[in-house]
Amino acid sequence: EAQPALLGRKVVVTAGGTREPLDPVRYLGNRSSGKQGLALAETAAAAGAQVHLIAGIMDIPAPNLPHIAVEHIETAAQLHAAVEREAADADVLLMAAAVADFRPAAYAAQKIKKTDDGENPVITLERNPDILAETVARRDSTGTGPGVIVGFAAETGSADAAPLELAQAKLLRKGCDLLVLNQVGENLVFGRDETEIHILTSAARAAQAGEGSAENASDVLTLRGTKHEAAAAI
Ligand code: C5P
Repeated sequence: EAQPALLGRKVVVTAGGTREPLDPVRYLGNRSSGKQGLALAETAAAAGAQVHLIAGIMDIPAPNLPHIAVEHIETAAQLHAAVEREAADADVLLMAAAVADFRPAAYAAQKIKKTDDGENPVITLERNPDILAETVARRDSTGTGPGVIVGFAAETGSADAAPLELAQAKLLRKGCDLLVLNQVGENLVFGRDETEIHILTSAARAAQAGEGSAENASDVLTLRGTKHEAAAAI
């Protein structure tokens, strides 16, 4: 009898957005709905995995399902600590969370006030660690950590690069095994149930490094459907 594909595997999923506090009432956040991450967690659990879901800020409640342990976090620093702890003995890491690249350099213990002198406050930001790249680097240097590490990228494209090119560069830079590209923009992807994804494999990474043919169509798989269908493909 066929066994579920992920039976006995530990899958760590990060989902939703992070929130970076500025003062007791304000934060920097993003538009991640968490839907793709939840779909990944549910799909992995249905395939027999033991799932650890690290849930940031989401539009929908986290599932209360067997085989999915939910850990709530808010900041990138909390996400970082949770991934470090949980990825160590995981088989698969799916980094679907929209992690803030920057956080306010200082947290104001009191609410930032308007002043009478007409001066506007200046908010200085500092970089958050790249959790995905760090987890890959640790695996490369110690030989431990998830055998499969999947990154996600939401790209609008830029003046001189198409989203797919940006994603290919990101796959190389982060060193993960798969990179899932979502094209984003007005009314695209964020918060929606339907999505269009491109799954880039590290074969595309090898091709970029000159070890194969960049034309090899199997390096990029494009899929349009629900976020659950996307999760099943991933
Ligand atoms: O560079 P960018 O933010 O587009 O990369 C997206 C991917 O990197 C996602 O998988 C996200 O979870 C991960 N990431 C991370 N740590 C950050 C920023 C992004 O792990 N500080």
